Order: sequence, then structure tokens, then C-alpha cells
Amino acid sequence: MDKIVSLCRRRGFVFPSSEIYGGLGSAYDYGHYGVLTKNNIKARWLEAMVQEREDIVAIDSAIILNPRVWEASGHVTGFTDPLVDCRTCKLRFRADQLAQSSCGRKPSKHPGETPDCDLTEARQFNLMFKTQVGALEDASSVAYLRPETAQGIFINFKNVLQLARRKPPFGIAQIGKSFRNEITPGNFLFRTREFEQMEMEFFVPPQEADEWFTYWIEQRRAWYVRYGLRESHLRVRPHEADELAHYARAASDIEYLYPIGWSELEGIANRGDFDLTQHTESSGTKLEYVGEGGERYTPNVIEPAGGPDRTFLALLVDAYDEEVVADRDRTVLRLHPAIAPIKAAILPLIPRNGDMVGKARGLLDDLRRRFMVEYDDNGQIGRRYRRQDEIGTPFAFTIDDQTLEDDTVTVRDRDSLAQERLPLAGVRAWLEEALDRPWRTPKE
Ligand code: GAP
Repeated sequence: MDKIVSLCRRRGFVFPSSEIYGGLGSAYDYGHYGVLTKNNIKARWLEAMVQEREDIVAIDSAIILNPRVWEASGHVTGFTDPLVDCRTCKLRFRADQLAQSSCGRKPSKHPGETPDCDLTEARQFNLMFKTQVGALEDASSVAYLRPETAQGIFINFKNVLQLARRKPPFGIAQIGKSFRNEITPGNFLFRTREFEQMEMEFFVPPQEADEWFTYWIEQRRAWYVRYGLRESHLRVRPHEADELAHYARAASDIEYLYPIGWSELEGIANRGDFDLTQHTESSGTKLEYVGEGGERYTPNVIEPAGGPDRTFLALLVDAYDEEVVADRDRTVLRLHPAIAPIKAAILPLIPRNGDMVGKARGLLDDLRRRFMVEYDDNGQIGRRYRRQDEIGTPFAFTIDDQTLEDDTVTVRDRDSLAQERLPLAGVRAWLEEALDRPWRTPKE
């Protein structure tokens, strides 16, 4: 994990947030390559969930909702973690994770293990961030930052049913920020207090719920494989009854083998009719489906819930490679070309040669209208290649002496290091085709 954190920082993917003020624990800012990579993850998710299907529509709901939403959803009372305080070291721990935590005074021991430890009784701690809406600071103005995007979907069920004229099975997909006052954030982007989610609520006739639950687990697993994760590093783990969230009838996690061990990448839950029933009772608006023949029912919900930050972390961990090529160390991110932040680099071999620079800049102008590409004329060509390898750029086009003679360029492949010659005029079409090709990680 340290190597990933250091690469992210060195190459401007992700920085610790508020650094000039000493940082803010487990808060991160995404830099240029990080933003581009995360945007690609979100775009691939929307393609798979919305663009390539006919039964899912998109939504973007508000982050601060009417607080009654969170009462009805059970979050005000049920979205809690058990917490203990140590009166000696003044640290706070999750009561159910003492065995994974370190004592504030003796880090080799767990909290409660030394004679000095003085732990309080466990009490329930609500993970929602509270805020105030408007100028009044009283109970009537209390509101919450959403801890999941899902509720913004449930409360729009009727709008979508009527305005998008859908009937079950159909889904509503949303990407957006969520906030949780996690007691033990950590492991870089894995658990932070402000993060993004990619959630889709799929509304189905109740008798079809089990079938769709199985279907979505496999669809989502296949999406991670499609974008490069090694199958050997992915597994599906059904939840035990005592781990189920308050709304879930069944749930399975797609887990990834992170450097910290197997942990959740995405959760798929069968939420039954819990949410639509709760919001119907609480709001007085019937959230049900009424068929043309007059049949009515409350749909069940199957929910694949992932997040671009955790996906970003898994994709980077999986893509990271170190190797020696021609006696030189090379660090390479073997990212799927559709995820890589930069699709191609354009490199004039001799930066002082005006003709080479002219041709390279011409190619840059042509390609940048269609792709995220980068021009680099700084330093030895070998160093420029290695800089691109480190950020996962799949292709590099080099303009050299021969280009000036016959208008061809060299293209270098990041993974195989193979080089071939292409006509300059054909580069755009070649790149378009290369980025469209199926790609599998060369890693074992
Ligand atoms: N609506 C269901 C739900 O929110 P979840 O398993 O708590 O389920 C879904 O969250 C996804 O949101 C996770 O798989 C993860 O990708 C992301 N996520 C949740 N908490 C997170 C955190 N503290 N930091 C980063 N990502 C988080």
C-alpha cells in the first residue's frame, strides 16, 4: 500500500487534503491524473449501467434531503457503530474491532489489554454528519449530509415511474458524494469520511427478487474483470445473518485482495420492500407499481452499491508493477486503456529540432480533439517513456528523423514494449481502433 500512496503523491494522482494546514485525517484531494482516472471509472460505470441497457435511467439527487427521509430510512436510529472511549489515552475505538485496533500508549497491544487501559462501556455512535439549514440553529433546522446516495433514488421512485414511464424490472442509477463520520477511517482511499458512491436501485416484482440478486452479483463481478482486475484477486462473499444492514434481506460483497487483505469492493443487497414501504408510511405517498390491469404491488429492490474511490484504489493496486528492462528499473501501471488517465503521449525525439516539434504539435492538435493525450519534450526519451509508464499511458508516439523523411511515427506499447511504425496521417484512426480492442491484464 505504501508504494501506491507514494506513487499517487509523486505523480499527482491523490494528495493528503489540507496539507499546508497539517492535513485532516483520512481526507484526500485528487490531482490531475486522479481526476481523469476517477472520471473514467465513473464513465465506464454509467456506460455499463445506463448506456448499454434499456432498463436503467440516471438521476442526480440533492445531498441534503428533508431530514424525515433519514428517520424513515432507519438511519437516524440504526446507522450506528458501537464505540468505546479510553479514559487514559483519550482515543476512541469501535467496540466490535478492538482486536484490529492498537492501544494509544502501547501500540503492540490492543485497547483494553494493558493495566493502564480504562475503557468506557460501549455506546451507539451515529455515523451521519449533522448540519443546520438556514439561519436558525434549533431542532427544526437540523439536517444531515447523506450517508448513502440510495435514499435520493427511493424518494424519486414515483417521479421516474410516471415521468420516465417505466415498469418493473427497471433501475435508477446515481453517482455522487456521501459522508460518514467513520470512527476508524484509514487505509488510504479505502475508508474515508467523504467519498463517492455509484449506486443503482433495481425495482423488481417480489417473486423475481432472488433471481435478480444473483444476476446483479455476476454482472458487477464481470464489470471489474472487464476493466482489468485479476479474477484471482476477486471473490464473492455472502453476508452472515448477523452482518446484514438493517434494511437487507440478503447481501453479498464482491471482495478484492487489497494489500490489507480481502475487503469489500462493492456490496450487492436484496433490500426487499423495506425502503419503499418505509417512505410510503412516512410520507403518505404510495410508492407502489400499479399495472395496466389494475394489479398493484410494492417492488423489491436489488442494490449493487460500489464507489469510484475504492474502485480506483483496487485498479491501481492491481495495475502496479515493478520490473527491470534493459538493466533499468521500470514502474508501470498496467491500467486498462479505458481507465488510464492519458491515452497516448506525443514525444518529439529531439526537442530542439523545430521540424520535429512542428510535426509533434500537429499530431497533438489532431489527437486532443478526440482523446486525452499529453505532449512531453522534457528530458531523455527513456525518461519520458518511464514517466508515461508510471501513470499508465498505454501508447506513446515518437516523432523522429524518419518522420521528417517519410511522415511515419513510432508507436510504443506500454505492456509489451513492442514498437511499430505508422503513417502520421493514420495515427488518429489507429489509436481509435487500439483503444477499442478488448484488453486483458498481462499480470498473472
Ligand atoms: N446503499 C448501500 C451502501 O451504502 P455500503 O456497503 O455501506 O452500502 C457502498 O457502501 C459502497 O460505498 C462501498 O462498497 C464502497 O465502495 C463505498 N463506501 C462506503 N463507505 C465508504 C468509505 N467510508 N470510504 C470510501 N468508500 C466507501
